[in-house]
Amino acid sequence: MRMGYADIYAKWKADPEGFWMDAAGAIDWAQKPSRALNSQNAPLYEWFADGMVNTCWNAVDRHVLAGRGAQPAIIHDSPVTRTKHILTYAELQNRVARLAGALRAKGVEKGDRVIIYMPMVPEALEAMLACARIGAIHSVVFGGFAANELAVRIDDSTPKAIIAASCGIEPNRVVHYKPLLDGAIELATHKPDFCVIFQREQEVAALTPGRDFEWHGFQYGATPAECLPVEGNHPAYILYTSGTTGQPKGVVRPTAGHLVALNWTMRAVYNVGVGDVFWAASDVGWVVGHSYICYGPLIAGCTTVVYEGKPVGTPDAGAFWRVISEHKVKSFFTAPTAIRAVKRDDREGALMKQHDLSHLQALFLAGERADPDTIKWAQDCLGIPVIDHWWQTETGWAIAGNPMGLGLLPVKIGSPSVAMPGYDVQVLDEGGHPVSPGTLGAIAIKLPLPPGTLPTLWNAEDRFRKAYLDHFPGYYETGDAGYIDEDGYLYIMARTDDVINVAGHRLSTGAMEEVLASHRDVAECAVIGVADDLKGQSPLGFLCLNKGSNRPHADVVKECVALMRDKIGPVADFKRAVVVERLPKTRSGKILRATMVAIADCKPWKMPATIDDPAILDEITEALQGIGLAKG
Ligand code: COA
Ligand code: AMP
Repeated sequence: MRMGYADIYAKWKADPEGFWMDAAGAIDWAQKPSRALNSQNAPLYEWFADGMVNTCWNAVDRHVLAGRGAQPAIIHDSPVTRTKHILTYAELQNRVARLAGALRAKGVEKGDRVIIYMPMVPEALEAMLACARIGAIHSVVFGGFAANELAVRIDDSTPKAIIAASCGIEPNRVVHYKPLLDGAIELATHKPDFCVIFQREQEVAALTPGRDFEWHGFQYGATPAECLPVEGNHPAYILYTSGTTGQPKGVVRPTAGHLVALNWTMRAVYNVGVGDVFWAASDVGWVVGHSYICYGPLIAGCTTVVYEGKPVGTPDAGAFWRVISEHKVKSFFTAPTAIRAVKRDDREGALMKQHDLSHLQALFLAGERADPDTIKWAQDCLGIPVIDHWWQTETGWAIAGNPMGLGLLPVKIGSPSVAMPGYDVQVLDEGGHPVSPGTLGAIAIKLPLPPGTLPTLWNAEDRFRKAYLDHFPGYYETGDAGYIDEDGYLYIMARTDDVINVAGHRLSTGAMEEVLASHRDVAECAVIGVADDLKGQSPLGFLCLNKGSNRPHADVVKECVALMRDKIGPVADFKRAVVVERLPKTRSGKILRATMVAIADCKPWKMPATIDDPAILDEITEALQGIGLAKG
């Protein structure tokens, strides 16, 4: 009889190293690891450290060698450019090997960093795989970030090369990547040796002679590169994510653990394998894009869909269903916010009904809390399992979920279900003691984390320890709060830090406050995330102006909105701010952000015992009512 979730979880718990060594058997190694876990540096851990392996080999070449060269590897479906095309595994191999060869010929070697700044085009995946092929460490930057954010990443990762596209296409505008790239290089202290620019026909960018090379010309005549095996603990990539300050955290992904874990999840979590079509409607700039647009599906020999469009408006709320039907998608993964957008435009599911969705076995949701309404709507309309699962950039794959490939467990709406093998998830009180079922606390994971999760932060081991390991010794602190019920189901309720989640995008209010504070009229400020029906949360700024400032408040607010777009980028989605006289604080000077959130969202709240001056909350309420909030 096939083992179910409970047996598999118990098997992992009884022998974690044996469990992952078994899973490692599904990966092609140049040299097999002698052991699974290296604990010598605990609480820093490494998996498969002495194995030698290449990610690109496992994601591309081995499928061609196995006779599947003619199978589609990537389907690019781009409603914003009205184009579709397919790349087979053999074509992908040729393209990646040539690009890798050209990079190497230009001096990019194992361990060198390469920034990739590209929209949802197959060339973005090719660039990632080309880096992996020669052991270079890529760092993909999301297109919705401004030049300043790109510059911060350039200075932190010090790339030898940057690979970018000339432009991206949003439904309402062309995103001028190249001027953003030029601006970022200008701002950054570190300068890359060279840039490779993929010119799109929608916008051909001006190249800087001597520094910039056109994508095709750059590769012309290059000798294709073979896959270079690297040590298991060699970083495959760095992906920056929001922390508590304006300095993003560079999450490091180790090569071997990444391969083993992602390959395991494709069958166990998503129930797909060779030849199946898998689609994650996210962006290559996010962790979902890394794990489940690029690496996971290709490692498992699936066909992956690269979708350059939106859930609605390209052209309508039927877009997801059209893609699923046309490409016979078996497992589909998106953010709840995207389904909320579809539901808002097509509540009756009329557009959905126009498409044959018979190949679709399940809808997977992650990136933010999946609200019960959205899950129920999707379940009712689609008639298939709708599976919430919880994970983070740091882990790279699901911490908790309902593993379809191991036999689905009963769904409890509002819960991303149970811990995956590899994760011993516990809820702790402030003193670090596990709490009883049903009690709210900080969610932590007992160390070691499983393969594929972050071993450290790029160039910031102290920060890694401080941010994740020091608070609860022996545990990884997730930054999420919630509880576990009597059946072991997890409920994710809130963040314990100042991270907010806007349309499935993780943003730091601390970083936004740094931007607002840099405005010449702003003396003090706070940013909170208020509830938003579509996007989950939406950022809202409170501005206290300098004593001498007599400028119209509306002008200052407008400038702050523009400043945020300029410094962090459109992805921050910062559109609202109010000017107030003072901010509510505790007697020790801590801003009472949680109270402001409760007032804005019309949630019950108690007057904080430590508040310095309760009258300030009346002013805050008034200001919020002025912009249509706090009116419950
Ligand atoms: N490059 C440049 N700009 C981008 C961008 C990109 N890749 N992605 C988004 N933006 C811009 C948008 O154009 C928009 O700019 P605007 O202020 O000029 O309109 C801004 O960033 C906010 O975009 P978005 O969050 O997409 O909001 P929206 O109102 O345009 O669309 C949704 C709302 C719900 C349809 C959209 O947020 C969505 O598809 N969300 C799902 C996100 C997702 O998959 N997240 C998963 C991560 S795992
Ligand atoms: P990111 O690193 O961008 O993937 O964001 C990770 C954070 O998003 C988590 O720490 C949670 O706060 C939130 N998150 C992701 N998935 C879920 C989920 N299924 N339910 C609730 N919150 C989620």
